[in-house]
Amino acid sequence: MSDHKEEWGSRLGVILAVAGSAVGLGNFLRFPGQAAANGGGAFLIPYFCALFLLGIPIGWAEWAMGRYGGKKGLHSAPMIIGAVGKGRVARYLGVIGVMIPLGVSYYYVFIETWTFGYFLKYLTGGIGVDATATVAQQTAQSSEFYNAFTGAAQDGVLFTGDSKFTIISWIVVFAINLFFVFRGLSKGIEKFVSWAMPAMAICALFVLIRVLTLGTPDPGQPDQNVINGLGYMWNPNYSKLGDFSTWMAAAGQIFFSLSVGFGVVINYSSYLKRKDDIALSGLTAASTNELFEVGFGGMITLTAAFVFLGLSGTTAAVATGSFSLGFATLPVVFARMGALGNFVGAAWFFMLFLAAITSSLSMYQPAVALIKECLGWSHARATATIATLGVFGAILTLWYTQGGQFWSTMDFWVGTYLIFALAGVQIIYFAWSFGIDRGWKEIHQGASIQIPPVFKFIMKYVAPLYLIIVFVGFTFQNLGPSITAAWASTGSRVAIIAILLTLSFLVIVTYFGERRQRALGVDIDDLQPAD
Ligand code: ALA
Repeated sequence: MSDHKEEWGSRLGVILAVAGSAVGLGNFLRFPGQAAANGGGAFLIPYFCALFLLGIPIGWAEWAMGRYGGKKGLHSAPMIIGAVGKGRVARYLGVIGVMIPLGVSYYYVFIETWTFGYFLKYLTGGIGVDATATVAQQTAQSSEFYNAFTGAAQDGVLFTGDSKFTIISWIVVFAINLFFVFRGLSKGIEKFVSWAMPAMAICALFVLIRVLTLGTPDPGQPDQNVINGLGYMWNPNYSKLGDFSTWMAAAGQIFFSLSVGFGVVINYSSYLKRKDDIALSGLTAASTNELFEVGFGGMITLTAAFVFLGLSGTTAAVATGSFSLGFATLPVVFARMGALGNFVGAAWFFMLFLAAITSSLSMYQPAVALIKECLGWSHARATATIATLGVFGAILTLWYTQGGQFWSTMDFWVGTYLIFALAGVQIIYFAWSFGIDRGWKEIHQGASIQIPPVFKFIMKYVAPLYLIIVFVGFTFQNLGPSITAAWASTGSRVAIIAILLTLSFLVIVTYFGERRQRALGVDIDDLQPAD
């Protein structure tokens, strides 16, 4: 716990923390499903366009704004974006930068709970999928466990049903999260990620090697081999590139996966020192994320599913959505792997758990910073407030489980739509209000590398335009159906109310923060000059 000035312990520590925030369920579960559904290998074209034209440059802008705000003693997205954008409008738009991580944490920690619960089950004999049964029977057994554990069949069943295993797992996972957030930046988050990231890499490598050496497990099905499995994922379908939705999916995946436009990097980098490098650190964190996403995420899940379930089984699994792919389909795969199956399953879910927790830790920190900064509360009190909000979000997530309506509505509005909005707000204020020349200088302050000048042009013109096109297109294609869907079920209606309540709370806190900062004599509408 720390109420003294918070800062990172080392340069590697902050890179690992940002990379830890980035590498998460998005890499291992969301990415393969998105790629397979959006053109396979061809998806990499819009994906890498989004990485180089949006993810990396907007990431640098976030790193720069965060460090700039931190030097002035500001750590929350509303205050930093307010200073960069010089006024109230920017400040209240900056509230989205706390809403996203907090709102995503409501359901992300729930899915993190699945990884933890499954890990415990695999350590102690598996989830009850019979190794000698047929694929159809195994799929039914796996789905039965998945539905029971996630409460997919009915609202309230996790509280009223026979097994309280999910609730107990959630309590443990939430407590671990709070413990490290409470310990503070360098003693909590940094310490945790510095062993969790290498441990995650070792587990991922182990699972990847096992999957790539599966060969042709069923000689009666010679087509179901590793090479064809990789082909299923990566053979390009260029016709998908004509669909606008493919380009939007790629941009959405880049933001979610890199935790850019997410409100995390701007907060994490605010604890850097003035002379700390951000140019190379930003690039290193993004590259680490890509290694885990394309290298591990892109080769494990669908390859393994294809080898054991064939084309139709894998396609059906992709169609049911990325999370059920990991939790309902892969257990069938582990059951068919033979002797090592349960061990590979345990390694897989432990790796997912580490990936998830290093991300969820980063989702609480921005709200803790906001409360400390705006209300002047101690670290312990701010953490307790976030714990209360976390419990509020969790009770709703754990109760409204039917069909995953609650969390998928949150994922659409907060985890996709608001991310596009925040990314746009950030790059436009950075390049046009703060000024690209000043911004460029800011990024290169203490930098270990010189960024190619073309990125200056990309930040000023290409990224904002690209985002506006994607955002308008996304709104046009999705908003109507999504608003209708938002009222279609109790879970989705409750999700909208939860978003509005959380947002109102954060706006009120920001309002008090404005008054408090002004009373402290800080010119929050303009912190210039930077140096
Ligand atoms: N960036 C995190 C992930 O990919 C949220 O899961």
